[in-house]
Amino acid sequence: MNADNMSPFLFVTDLDNTLVGDDSALLELNQQLAKHRERYHSKIVYATGRSLYLYRLLAEAKSLLPPDALITSVGTEMYFDQNQQQSDPEWSKILAQGWNREAIVKIANQFEHLQSQPKSEQNPFKISYYLAEAVANETITRLKAALMAQGYGIKLIYSAGQDLDLLPKNGDKGLAVQFLRQRWEIPPEQTIVCGDSGNDISMFEGLEKGLIVSNAKPELLQWYETNRDKNHHLAHSPCAGGILEGLKHFNFL
Ligand code: GLC
Ligand code: MG
Repeated sequence: MNADNMSPFLFVTDLDNTLVGDDSALLELNQQLAKHRERYHSKIVYATGRSLYLYRLLAEAKSLLPPDALITSVGTEMYFDQNQQQSDPEWSKILAQGWNREAIVKIANQFEHLQSQPKSEQNPFKISYYLAEAVANETITRLKAALMAQGYGIKLIYSAGQDLDLLPKNGDKGLAVQFLRQRWEIPPEQTIVCGDSGNDISMFEGLEKGLIVSNAKPELLQWYETNRDKNHHLAHSPCAGGILEGLKHFNFL
């Protein structure tokens, strides 16, 4: 090991089809991350689209290391310990700016192609729908305009050709990572973010190192083609194997 890879780093990863998807590569990655955290105090954070409820189901089914913090629901909730019941109140206060859930739902519900996701995936700062790919572009453009007309410059995030999330202007995975970094005083160059789909794009827009797994969805690959720079790496391997590759590429391991 050289001096560089003994430095602690902040490891942030999406779960579905990024950290999770290749069980044997996950075991190998877990071993290396656990060792680094124990020896050099690196931190592990999951940033998932799942609610806390769906995260817990995944954590029961797969071998996930306990994270140092958990960002759920596409960045609209943040937890610092396993038993915490409520999302971080300071973060909620930031999300509340310019957000009016009831009024936004009322506007969105007028769009025929939007089909509500299950109750578990809705929260005070996240409104989620299913939206078919064939009508997605047109629907999103019209919905955005309708929201703007009422003064709601909120975020519309489309992922994997099926999910549409409506989020506060101050809330997404990327902004949640910034908040966390500032709280922990970790610079962007000591941070790596990993993802595979549309709701991960916001994490790649900062100055952090960004790793895109080889099995990434078209919307993220397209983003990479237009925005890539030396801070971004598209892995040759899928899922956890791609993450290991990225950690080595950026000299974190
Ligand atoms: C997860 C969430 C869902 C969200 C999707 C994309 O699947 O459960 O609510 O729409 O991620 O962000
Ligand atoms: Mg994913």
